Amino acid sequence: MIARQAHELAKRLSTGSAARAAAAAFAVLTAVAPVVRSQVQVPLVDPRSVAPYVPTPWHVVERMLVEADVTEDDIVFDLGSGDGRILMRAAKDRGARGVGYEINPDLVEEARSAVAAAGVSHQVEIRQGDIFEADLSRATVVTLFLMTSAHRRLRPKLLEELRPGTRIACYKWEIPGWNPSKTVTVPVSGSEQPIFLYRVGLHN
Ligand SMILES: C[S@@+](CC[C@H](N)C(=O)[O-])C[C@H]1O[C@@H](n2cnc3c(N)ncnc32)[C@H](O)[C@@H]1O
Repeated sequence: MIARQAHELAKRLSTGSAARAAAAAFAVLTAVAPVVRSQVQVPLVDPRSVAPYVPTPWHVVERMLVEADVTEDDIVFDLGSGDGRILMRAAKDRGARGVGYEINPDLVEEARSAVAAAGVSHQVEIRQGDIFEADLSRATVVTLFLMTSAHRRLRPKLLEELRPGTRIACYKWEIPGWNPSKTVTVPVSGSEQPIFLYRVGLHN
């Protein structure tokens, strides 16, 4: 059925009648759209999203917090906080406070539940929103697991809003163009994956 209409369209195009071709194209699209809609699961991804949800493995979370030297004096910002695990551990194990920004409302809910279940709701706030709209000025530590392109886009915001000396720990993807003060690797699923550590003002 669709193939026949496409064939018709091709025939009409070859006759050079633009109006008839446009009408035929519309007919084909009208026929195809419901078929495509019924066969393809279109994910509802927020257009502002810059990285898919992949949780940082628990042992990597622990290592990031150790390497960033997170203590009870810190306010950790996890940009794209997923299920809240980094902030939950920072609060529970190290007494830190935390702020997470997450675009996906389901993950926001999951993170708030996890934080409450861990008994650290008074230390950790999970905000639903875009990291590019976040106010980062209170952060003493920032954790990132997005993608290199997103880290590149974040660079000017990090420079503008974070105080000199603020620690940044990135899992897997670097901040392009910045020199890490330290890089460590962690075993993940049979290969070594990097954690890049930066200090604002000391990365050139
Ligand atoms: C790779 S996951 C990391 C999750 C968590 N930080 C962790 O380490 O387990 C990236 C997260 O960033 C979120 N995200 C992507 N773009 C975002 C945006 N513009 N604003 C807020 N969150 C975003 C995704 O929904 C996803 O949960």
